[in-house]
Amino acid sequence: MDIQAEPYRIKMVEKLPMLSRREREEAIERAGYNTFLLRSDDVYIDLLTDSGTSAMSDEQWAAMMLGDEAYSGSRNFFNLEKAVRDIYGFEYVTPTHQGRGAEHILSSLLIEPGDYVPGNMYFTTTRAHQERAGGNFVDVIIDEAHDPASDHPFKGNVDLAKLEMLIKNVGPERIPYLSLAVTVNMAGGQPVSMKNLRQTRELCSQYGVPVYFDATRCAENAYFIQEREEGYQDHSVADILKEMMSYGDGCTMSGKKDCLVNIGGFLATDSAEVYEAATEIVTLFEGFPTYGGLAGRDMEAMAVGIREMVEDDYISHRVQQVRHLGIRLEEASIPFVQPVGGHAVFLDARRFLPHLSQDELPAQSLAAALYVESGVRTMERGVVSAGRDPDSGEHRYPRLELVRVTIPRRVYTSQHLDVVANAAENLYRKRENISGLKFVYEPSVLRFFTARFEPISGK
Ligand code: F0G
Repeated sequence: MDIQAEPYRIKMVEKLPMLSRREREEAIERAGYNTFLLRSDDVYIDLLTDSGTSAMSDEQWAAMMLGDEAYSGSRNFFNLEKAVRDIYGFEYVTPTHQGRGAEHILSSLLIEPGDYVPGNMYFTTTRAHQERAGGNFVDVIIDEAHDPASDHPFKGNVDLAKLEMLIKNVGPERIPYLSLAVTVNMAGGQPVSMKNLRQTRELCSQYGVPVYFDATRCAENAYFIQEREEGYQDHSVADILKEMMSYGDGCTMSGKKDCLVNIGGFLATDSAEVYEAATEIVTLFEGFPTYGGLAGRDMEAMAVGIREMVEDDYISHRVQQVRHLGIRLEEASIPFVQPVGGHAVFLDARRFLPHLSQDELPAQSLAAALYVESGVRTMERGVVSAGRDPDSGEHRYPRLELVRVTIPRRVYTSQHLDVVANAAENLYRKRENISGLKFVYEPSVLRFFTARFEPISGK
């Protein structure tokens, strides 16, 4: 097997805290068994998220010194705008403080109460903004995406029949746009094929439905196309990304992922009308349209990151490093979502903890247990993240009950990931001892962030 070493070297280091098992038990209890509520000082290897956790390059740090902190018309904005035009191909861009800022603007601009917003699986903040604007999210991803054992190479694909049925049932005028994620976070970081993007675009055009990407991890999606889709092996990731984006009318973007920055995002569109309307809302909620809640230096770092994210060496190592963890877990027979996605390995908590029912919150329990075992922080992506149905008030029971082991970009070495795999293996051997959890505090929106739990007694 070819060994692919990190395509960068380390210039600055940060010490990792190491607690004893006893201290970790106390820490998770204090955190209400919710890994989001742990203090980062209590965490050894932090795989909670790849969001805002990237290591910036020397070029990005240098760019931070070039901040033009003018209230309006900062030169950093124009550099960002040019990077978005060059790499994504969209004409108009307005920065936002992060991805959900852009989601808020797009949703409140385009969605009317009672509308239907189809998407290839929900994402928490995206759907929350769509529902807040009065929309109903409708999942139109292919069935394979809900099956953790399916090894479909493009599990993020849109099911064209489901989409067309929705358009026919409710009428295209009730569908403000298709929300198209590349890659699909909640499905396990799974990509969408170029063929599917093309066909989805054709179908939407036929009915006059706009397509807006959630482009949060689009560079990773482009890499999967280069790797897996016939005819793209000789194309650069940059060219593939440009073609992908050409099938949309615009995008919302969390710069905290692919763009390799710790904060930032943007809304981009080819529509002068949408852009103009967006600038009004941006001014109200984010800031003047040429800064949108960001400092000039943050925009400059994002402009540099956007160009770095499509460098072939970087993105290839990025995705392969995540896969390396998958291979190690596979060797230990630990169940996880196949194939390994672009930003994370998703442990299959149903199969890891078959003795727990979904009401006993298996993924939440597994994430807490993995922390106690090893100091590795991960997050729940299952019934807790799915929240309650706004109409019935009942839990939503997603088929996927997962623990996301998310790899920050350029932060950990592959040896750190070997430590993670060992910890998961040790835990797997004593999995019968892991008890379920129950809610003791449940917030009404995005409950996974701040909910508190306690072990179900008697187990
Ligand atoms: N879309 C996707 C697919 C995301 O994964 C996220 C954030 C957002 C939108 C919102 O962007 O955080 O910049 O406001 N995902 C983070 C995560 C929180 O850990 O997966 P944001």
